[in-house]
Amino acid sequence: MGAYDLLKPALFRLPPETAHGLIHRLLGRVQGTPIADALAERYAVDDDRLAVDAFGSAFPNPVGVAAGFDKNAHVPRALASLGFSHVEVGGVTAERQPGNPRPRLFRLREDEALVNRMGFNNEGADRVGERLDRDPLPEVPVGINIGKSKSTPLEDAPDDYLYTYERVADAGDYFVVNVSSPNTPGLRELQNREALEGILGTLADAGADPLLVKLSPDLPEPAVDDALGVVDDARVDGVIATNTTTSRPDSLRSHNRAERGGLSGKPIESLATERVRYVAERTDVPVIGVGGISDAAGAYEKIRAGASLVQLYTGLVYEGPGLARDINEGLVELLERDGFDSVEDAVGADL
Ligand SMILES: Cc1cc2nc3c(=O)[nH]c(=O)nc-3n(C[C@H](O)[C@H](O)[C@H](O)COP(=O)(O)O)c2cc1C
Repeated sequence: MGAYDLLKPALFRLPPETAHGLIHRLLGRVQGTPIADALAERYAVDDDRLAVDAFGSAFPNPVGVAAGFDKNAHVPRALASLGFSHVEVGGVTAERQPGNPRPRLFRLREDEALVNRMGFNNEGADRVGERLDRDPLPEVPVGINIGKSKSTPLEDAPDDYLYTYERVADAGDYFVVNVSSPNTPGLRELQNREALEGILGTLADAGADPLLVKLSPDLPEPAVDDALGVVDDARVDGVIATNTTTSRPDSLRSHNRAERGGLSGKPIESLATERVRYVAERTDVPVIGVGGISDAAGAYEKIRAGASLVQLYTGLVYEGPGLARDINEGLVELLERDGFDSVEDAVGADL
């Protein structure tokens, strides 16, 4: 039994956002202290077979923290000390935003899932950009997830994304155009070809490199094809598949399935993996696979379906801080079992 097995029941008695805030404060306390070094000692898996080169950066292993966990870039170094190979901070928007009224984050315990309708609560690009420029960054790559301010009309989206990009440009190892969160009205409409061309073209012209786009699992296949057409044309370096879904699989048991918002965690795992496969089959740029990963087998499945890197959020809530280590150790075993020399060898093995 690990320490998290003892802590989890107490944490789960708190409202989810309160628990998240508590964990954040804890991570903030240990960040930059000898305790963080001790955590890294415990959780980092040092094995060359896990290393991935992508987007011009060296990732020590494939497992990163998905956007939304550290929206304001307060604790990227603490998260890295848990053995993650990269941390995607944000979503950051040009304007500081309170997000939707609480409660806006719900546990679906029986389903190992969450529903959130946070609505891009964040301190805004000025503050987050200053923090990223001022504070030491982790030794692992940092991605910056950029969203659209709620009050900005859809037709002005390119300038809104640009404003944020310019404020975080120095700190990011990669930049993500997030047009797939279900909790900003109209946002997902920006996944159409014309809108994407406008946003991605504007950021590429401004020097955003590497530039990635994060897609919704709810996008119908023809619309994914359209989006991938833009990826090929518009100097886009990668695709993240996927964000949360507004769909509700029949298998869900928790009463919180009725809450409005984006579903994440176990119940979206296969949906997200199929999206990774669909995207990887149709583009040459690297894919980051995210959605429902909570163990090595799940991470490996996304890698074999074409993901060069994987990320998770909800799994961390249910499995605790040892998850990156458990996945990385498990991945090494799976690679050995299947005769792969490295993670990079296994990428797309099932395509
Ligand atoms: C509370 C919460 C907030 C999130 N915020 C963002 C966000 O700001 N930007 C984004 O691109 N994705 C956001 N996500 C989506 C995650 O990055 C991820 O794509 C999704 O949760 C699926 O992965 P998971 O099943 O491992 O959680 C958020 C997810 C949760 C649960």
